[in-house]
Amino acid sequence: MSSTVFILNGPNLNLLGTREPEIYGSTTLAEIEAQCLELADVLGFEIVFRQSNHEGDLVDWLHEAQAAGAKAVLVNAAAYTHTSIALLDAAKAIAVPVIEIHLSDPRTREDFRHVSYIGEACVDTVQGMGPGSYTEGLKRASRL
Ligand code: DQA
Repeated sequence: MSSTVFILNGPNLNLLGTREPEIYGSTTLAEIEAQCLELADVLGFEIVFRQSNHEGDLVDWLHEAQAAGAKAVLVNAAAYTHTSIALLDAAKAIAVPVIEIHLSDPRTREDFRHVSYIGEACVDTVQGMGPGSYTEGLKRASRL
């Protein structure tokens, strides 16, 4: 079985570090990537780590994870979590297990964040742990 895990990040996550630090903390996306790479080494995973502000890129990368025979996808779809049926359909369309990731806990925030479309197609969700949501997601991927 492939040991590649795709970690996909949606809109505005490129601004982590300076973006609403009272909600998302001060860790940058590059630092989260470094933490994931370090843990991936221990777990024996190859990591494909990407970010885009464009919904279609995330759809394409979910398809790519399937074509690459990835072991799992961790996806922080950011605001597209709450709007995107296209991402839900893409996650449903692939056989690769998808784990939903959030830095914050959307369930404790505004009402419009309580709906997760992509979450309906995910095998697991890790949220509210800051950057630790990503590393916890990787640990859960190792148990799939
Ligand atoms: C987020 C939560 C979303 O509601 C928000 O739109 C984001 C980030 C998180 O990681 O906490 O951009 O996905």
